[in-house]
Amino acid sequence: MTDIAVTAEARWLAYRREFPIFERVTYFNSCSLGALSRRVAAAVRRFTDLWDARGAAAWYGPWLDEVEQLRSRFASLIGATPEEVAIFPSVTAALTAVASCFDYRSRPGVVLSELEFPTTVYQWLAKVPAGVRLQTLPSQEKMTVALDAYERAIGPDTQLVVGSHVYFTSGVIQDIAALAHFAHAKGAYCLIDAYQSIGQVPVNVRDTGVDFLVTGGLKWLLGGPGIAYLYVRREVTALMHPTDVGWFAHRRQFDFDITRWDDADGARRFEGGTPAVAAVYAGRAGLEIVTEIGAQALRERQIEHVRHLVLAAEQAGLHPRVSGPVDQLAGILTIPRPNPKAVVAALAEQGVIIDHRPGLIRLSPYFYNTIEDCDRVVQAIAELEQQRIA
Ligand SMILES: Cc1ncc(COP(=O)(O)O)c(C=O)c1O
Repeated sequence: MTDIAVTAEARWLAYRREFPIFERVTYFNSCSLGALSRRVAAAVRRFTDLWDARGAAAWYGPWLDEVEQLRSRFASLIGATPEEVAIFPSVTAALTAVASCFDYRSRPGVVLSELEFPTTVYQWLAKVPAGVRLQTLPSQEKMTVALDAYERAIGPDTQLVVGSHVYFTSGVIQDIAALAHFAHAKGAYCLIDAYQSIGQVPVNVRDTGVDFLVTGGLKWLLGGPGIAYLYVRREVTALMHPTDVGWFAHRRQFDFDITRWDDADGARRFEGGTPAVAAVYAGRAGLEIVTEIGAQALRERQIEHVRHLVLAAEQAGLHPRVSGPVDQLAGILTIPRPNPKAVVAALAEQGVIIDHRPGLIRLSPYFYNTIEDCDRVVQAIAELEQQRIA
C-alpha cells in the first residue's frame, strides 16, 4: 500500500471503531439494516435526556428544531432544498401520501416492475379494485429492467412510473434520469424508491429530474427504523393536494382550525402526524456520518469492496449474480442457493452476518467493512459448500 492508501485505510478503520458490532461479529448486512454507531446511540440518549429534563417543553424547542435540522441535512445530501423534503415514519407512509394525490379516473395507469420492493407494489396493487391499472414489467434475468420496456409501456393514460434506483435483490443501479425522461415525455410523473441507494450511491435529484423520491434511515443512512424521507420536486409540489394527510401538513398547524383545510407550502403538505422523535435523533446522527464521509467517497469504497467480493466469490466457485459491468452494482451481491436460510443460520453461528431472499443469499458490505471481511465471508460460504450445507 502507498502512504496515501495507508492513511485512507486508517481513516476507514477509525470509522469502523464507531460501530461496536465489529468487536463481536463480521457484519455484512447493511442492505437490511445499517450497523448501530456510538453516535446514533448517544443521540437517542440525548433525546430521552431532554424528555426527562424538560417534559413537553422539549417539543417546541429542541425536538422540532431537530426535525428541521434533519430535513436540511437530508436535503443537502440529495441536492434538494429543505422545502422539497417531507419526513415520515416509513416509506410506506410516504407512498400513501403521494398515492392520494392522483385522479386515477382520468389516468389509471401505474407502470412498475417485478423487481420493486413489495411495499411499493402493494400501494397500487391494493387500488386495482378502485380502478388503478397496474402494468408490472418483467425482468429477463431478475437483475434489472430494460429501459426500452419502460419506454414501450408508458402511454397517454399512465399516471405514474415507479422504479427502484438500486434493486434490492440484485444490487443493480437503474438509470433513473431515463425513467423520469420517459415518464415526462408522456405527461406522467416519476417516483423512485431509492431506499437501497441514497447513502451508498451519490444522487443529485435535480439532475435526475424525478418528481418524487423516497428513502429511509434503516440501511445506508445508518439511522435505524422509524424515519423515512420523501423528496418532491418543487415545481410538482404546487400541483399536488394530498388527501392522506395529518395536522403537520396544514399551513397553520397550530391554529387548530378544523373548518378549513389549507395545504402547507412545500413538501410538508404530504406529512401526517407527530414525528417519531427518537428516530429523528437517530436519523440525524446517522446522516451526519454519511455526509461527513461524503457520497462520492462512499461510492468509491463500495466499488472497491464489490469488485473484490465478485472476484473472490468467482474464484471460490460460488457463481455470484452479475450481469453487465461490476461497477454498475451497488453494495449488494446475491448468490443463488437452494437453501439460503440454512446458509444464513450456519454463518451466523460463526459470527458472520448476511441475509437471504427467496432462492438467494445476499451480501452487503459498507464503508466500515474491510477487504478482510469480504474474504472471510466468501471463505465461510465456500467452506459450507464443501461441507454440503450450502
Ligand atoms: C427498496 C426498499 N423499499 C422499501 C423498503 C421498506 O419500506 P418501509 O419503510 O415502508 O418499511 C425496503 C426495505 O425495508 C426496501 O429495501
